Amino acid sequence: FSLKKHNTFGINALAKQFIAIHTIEELATLLQNEKDIFILGGGSNMLLTKDINKLVVHINLKGIEVIDKNEEYTYIKANAGENWHEFVLYCIKNNYGGIENLSLIPGNVGTTPIQNIGAYGVEIKDVFFSCEAMEIETQKLIIFDKDSCQFGYRESIFKNELKNQYIITSVTFKLTNKNHKLNTSYGAIETELANQNITTPTIKDVSNAVISIRKSKLPDPKELGSSGSFFKNPIISKEKYSKIALLFPDMPHYNISDSEVKVPAGWLIEQAGFKGKRFGDAGIHKNQALVLVNYGNATGSEILAVSKDIQNTILNKFGILIEAEVNII
Ligand code: EPU
Repeated sequence: FSLKKHNTFGINALAKQFIAIHTIEELATLLQNEKDIFILGGGSNMLLTKDINKLVVHINLKGIEVIDKNEEYTYIKANAGENWHEFVLYCIKNNYGGIENLSLIPGNVGTTPIQNIGAYGVEIKDVFFSCEAMEIETQKLIIFDKDSCQFGYRESIFKNELKNQYIITSVTFKLTNKNHKLNTSYGAIETELANQNITTPTIKDVSNAVISIRKSKLPDPKELGSSGSFFKNPIISKEKYSKIALLFPDMPHYNISDSEVKVPAGWLIEQAGFKGKRFGDAGIHKNQALVLVNYGNATGSEILAVSKDIQNTILNKFGILIEAEVNII
């Protein structure tokens, strides 16, 4: 069974077997009999470098439900298999605020907490209320609140201590009904709104601004395979930053604490000369160097090799190790 259509990189890896799961009961029954499985959500944050010699379980649980509502907040639960961007649009249509900055991110709802997806100044943790997950070993359903998820920059407990132990079945978000806290501080959003002469934006306006920024920089996975940002933006000590800045005074950086700064990996990759380069069918996107792309028939190993080349070049040039953000299988 080819997984090409099930990963946004468009890698033609094969699965030994493939099953789509539509109900919690189906999932529990399956896990009673089979534990050596590979879980697949939207396939938007992985690079398949080999065939999967296991049963691939595609989580296709659908459904959206308002579970509580007061004057200020709506608590809305979406099942793991809902497409993320369609869920965002559904919330905007109903005037639930908080996820408009996360418009057009590929993938499904169930995987959003795993890497605490984020864009344009908002992360999933800002609107996350809880999630429900099935323990693979026991098939018990457990509720995780925000604290127990241990969210960090593109991090959560599901990528660390609890890796491969739980399957997220639904996520509940706490969204605003009024007094939406719009986050337009990200420079490109302000510029986009100003270009459209919008002075008092709605959540829909912010969503539209984000959509047009993303379209101008990031490839549409339907047209060009990718997994969004391939690397995380590295976090380095201020001390180290000061030393590197002597050699590269133009290096952009953002203070994230008293002792640490974040450096855009896209800038490092561009400075290292990789932006827009192509090696066979593997390449580096022309508008956003942080995104590796598949021009058609690249294998996962070819893309991985390009990523290693980028990593080594940057380590040699800047003394900074950039780590993959995508899950390398
Ligand atoms: N830059 C360059 N050259 C490039 C790309 C970026 O010099 O080719 C520099 C510029 O200085 C720019 C800065 O990097 O000002 C930041 O670029 P951008 O706003 O595009 O954001 P990013 O840091 O590269 C992160 C997220 C994206 C998210 C954007 C917007 C990570 C790993 N990536 O990218 O998330 O959309 O911010 O908030 O944190 C993803 O995770 O898949 C993803 C697309």
